[in-house]
Amino acid sequence: MHQSSSNNMIDISNKLDTCLNVVKKYEWLLNSYVSDFYVEDHWNKLPLSWQKHLEQLPVESLSELLQSDVDVDVDVGVQVTRRSLWPLELLALRQVLCSLDISRTPKRQLEVELPSCPLLEHRKLKHMFMKCVKPKKSHEIKRMAAICARSCQQNSIDFVVDFGAGLGHLARILGYGYGINVCCFEMQANLNQQALAIDAKLESMAAKHLDASELAKFKRSAHLTQRLSSSTKPTEFIESIREAFQLPDTDFQFGIIGLHPCGDLGATLMRMFLNCEQAKFLNFVGCCYHKMSTQESQPKMDLHGYPLSSQLRRQLQTDAHSCQLSYEAREIACHAIELYYDRLKAGQHEYLKIHSLRAAAERIIVHHFPDLRHSALRNVKHAPGMTFNDYFQKAVEGTRFAELNSTQLNSKQIETDLLHWERIVCFYTLRLMLAPHVESIILYDRAMFLLEKGCQVNIEAIFDPRISPRNHITSAVKN
Ligand SMILES: C[S@@+](CC[C@H](N)C(=O)[O-])C[C@H]1O[C@@H](n2cnc3c(N)ncnc32)[C@H](O)[C@@H]1O
Repeated sequence: MHQSSSNNMIDISNKLDTCLNVVKKYEWLLNSYVSDFYVEDHWNKLPLSWQKHLEQLPVESLSELLQSDVDVDVDVGVQVTRRSLWPLELLALRQVLCSLDISRTPKRQLEVELPSCPLLEHRKLKHMFMKCVKPKKSHEIKRMAAICARSCQQNSIDFVVDFGAGLGHLARILGYGYGINVCCFEMQANLNQQALAIDAKLESMAAKHLDASELAKFKRSAHLTQRLSSSTKPTEFIESIREAFQLPDTDFQFGIIGLHPCGDLGATLMRMFLNCEQAKFLNFVGCCYHKMSTQESQPKMDLHGYPLSSQLRRQLQTDAHSCQLSYEAREIACHAIELYYDRLKAGQHEYLKIHSLRAAAERIIVHHFPDLRHSALRNVKHAPGMTFNDYFQKAVEGTRFAELNSTQLNSKQIETDLLHWERIVCFYTLRLMLAPHVESIILYDRAMFLLEKGCQVNIEAIFDPRISPRNHITSAVKN
């Protein structure tokens, strides 16, 4: 999605309206927790025609509801004939979602178009960039660094500012790998200390393996322990950067980046971009949408994480219900859709049963402790042959529900609930089908916010969604 002209603004504006209408129609589904499936009899909320169709389907076929553009390419013939059997409303809904939602599949050519980083391939040094880095993060930082390096080539800037830099993994590739100055803002002091230690180790290792001309290109990042929020004044922010780089004045230009800035930090980063004249480009990939503030969750706050655009903020004043996204809707938007698709397709029944076990546990908890609904339980991996009792003991370990003894767990009700595990898979799949739609609304709102202020905006998937489910970058430049 690349947006710049006023025509495109109209396009996004219309999409936002239509998307929100879809959410309104299906909020009964989006706002229903799977753990309440038995307690609230969610199955009977589904239209009868859906129930009838879904009940007779092997769970493997449900994967069709989550199929992405790429997966369709593989065996399109089979899919079309099977799809024709679905209830009309479900078919229509799938079609509407496909036409409105932002693609979750990265462009095939993406890697080829990006600047390379030879140091990431250096036999002796490459592992230094991956210290304390899991495979998911490794995938993200390599790609994100290359995209930010390209933005630096395309825009005349002096450095980039990383919001919520964590251990500085992204900054390290940019600074030592691409020779770009980075100012990291991270609110946790211990992370900054660790980041400095990793930088120092990398430098001493590099001193043994690189010659002076290569070492001269290194840029050590500045790591600032600071919390940025909607109340941070742009002048304070700019002054912190000036001090960090010991610059004589504030006559500099920079780009703003963020890899999974959590909660409202994404919104803060966009506001800072718009309010600082020196900020020239923006590249960030969001995360944990359910942790963003909204008027509903924090009515006393002035500025919220969602919505951001004037279009939706105006709507919020006149008809709040028309653009609100519930906590439950924003939470499902963060689930790993493609991995669930794979498990459905492969018929991994043992794994798929886990939601049913959790929902059966919820019924027991609600029965004995009606005030403690939706309590957090431990995550339990389903093992072959695991009984409900095994699951329950592990899930409640260390919680007050551990006092429930096995006689209280041996009810006929549990047996009946678990017999219907496939129904809960259907219900969860239907919610998951709507997840990219909720995410698209959040992303369209962000795009609209930036477009309304005259920026050029691009939103696209850049990470493999199976490795990193929150995979859309929002990029902007000022006109
Ligand atoms: C999900 S982590 C991502 C870290 C890093 N960007 C990465 O990808 O490895 C988000 C980081 O943002 C930091 N953070 C969250 N809110 C912040 C704020 N308001 N100001 C500064 N840092 C913040 C957190 O402490 C955390 O380290």
